[in-house]
Amino acid sequence: MSYKVGILGMGTVGTGVAKILLDPVGRHAILQSVEIKRVGVRSLNKDRGIILDPSIFTDDLEAVVTDPNIDVVIELIGGIEPARSLILQAIAQGKHIVTANKAVLARYGDEIFTAATAKGVYVMLEAAVGGGIPIIQTLKQALGANKITAVTGIINGTTNYILSRMSANPHESFAEILADAQALGYAEADPTADVDGYDATDKIAILASLAFGDRIKLEQIYREGIRHVTSTDVARAAELGYVIKLLAIARNHEGLEIRVHPTLVPKDHPLASINGVTNAITVAGDPIGEVVLSGAGAGMGATASAVVADLINIVAAIQVQPQRPNQLMGCSHHHYATVKPITVSTSQYYLRLLAYDHAGVIGDLGNCFGKYEVNLETILQKHHHQGLAEIIVVTKVVSELNLQTALTEIRSLAALHSIPTVLRLLA
Ligand SMILES: NC(=O)c1ccc[n+]([C@@H]2O[C@H](COP(=O)([O-])OP(=O)(O)OC[C@H]3O[C@@H](n4cnc5c(N)ncnc54)[C@H](OP(=O)(O)O)[C@@H]3O)[C@@H](O)[C@H]2O)c1
Repeated sequence: MSYKVGILGMGTVGTGVAKILLDPVGRHAILQSVEIKRVGVRSLNKDRGIILDPSIFTDDLEAVVTDPNIDVVIELIGGIEPARSLILQAIAQGKHIVTANKAVLARYGDEIFTAATAKGVYVMLEAAVGGGIPIIQTLKQALGANKITAVTGIINGTTNYILSRMSANPHESFAEILADAQALGYAEADPTADVDGYDATDKIAILASLAFGDRIKLEQIYREGIRHVTSTDVARAAELGYVIKLLAIARNHEGLEIRVHPTLVPKDHPLASINGVTNAITVAGDPIGEVVLSGAGAGMGATASAVVADLINIVAAIQVQPQRPNQLMGCSHHHYATVKPITVSTSQYYLRLLAYDHAGVIGDLGNCFGKYEVNLETILQKHHHQGLAEIIVVTKVVSELNLQTALTEIRSLAALHSIPTVLRLLA
């Protein structure tokens, strides 16, 4: 029997998927029973560099999702609309879905999975987080015996590329590296989704939901991008034994915490050595301990590998039990998680302060921190520059609220010029 696939979108990932499906020999045997039946695109006249019968292409995407001959719809157009409506329409027609679209899943996962459960179809999303890294299946299946305590990841390649280059080339600024990343195709013309942490927020929402078993509202995730990280901070972190990475963290720490922010990672931590556009995710669970997965977080081949793995799982499941959904592949969440606000979290912090070169400034700072129980691990006075002294502070694990209260008081000290940087350390 052959299984018919409709692909929405034949861009970077769609082309990668088609290449795999057109060359099944040597891959999983199931792929020999899969046929690309229709392809929906915007422009019918583009050369896509692959040999597919032109008659299967259409710019009428609804015709693909309503085609009675299609078993599985692979959505690879991206964005919110028309992707959301097409996925819902396909589900209503009883089609199984594979998608790489983290943006639509993080916002409309609730609606999509509720519809899929009611209709008894699968919605598979391995490619939506970490490109080719098999993190979704790992959380859903391989680590199912564990109580997950934390998922921590470098899940945005653009920001990791920028921060890695800042680390390797201390004289290059954020703006120079961003411009290069755009020229190399690692960053979008509008880099907001990446550098301001929105992309990582969408992805950690999906991972947190799988790891901790409830749906997540995006607005409850604390998000901070990397625009304010300077090469001075990268250099100071290195002197202290840390590397700065944009981490997405979901952890169960007296309640569920989910956050995305630049983080000082100890140099001997597995995530510290993940450079360039590579992604990596650590999962901590009981009893397994820590598992680290790393690999290509994007790109045609890696992402297509994840999409096709989902397709193989669906075909295998419907071959064996067409009417009885495989629980390991479905979504069983019905409630929203309660996520702790950042104000009630605790962390170690790195602070860079600029002070006028007055006698006793370190003592004044120490008094303010002490008053609000912000215990310090390190306080260093660095170079004098244009009459200002740079002071680097690393706190012990302290309450966010106490730290912010102390900083408000410190900002009013006559000796203080400014506090250019406040960053968290990896717990
Ligand atoms: N690229 C990656 O490395 C990567 C990694 C992980 C996840 N993803 C996700 O994978 C999905 C696809 O990304 P991509 O990089 O392959 O995108 P892409 O290269 O921009 O391709 C998008 C495709 O969708 C078609 N399309 C877009 N809007 C359409 C519309 N309104 N009607 C009809 N066709 C439409 C385009 O048609 P035309 O070709 O005719 O314009 C194109 O073929 C996105 O959700 C993305 O977030 C991508």
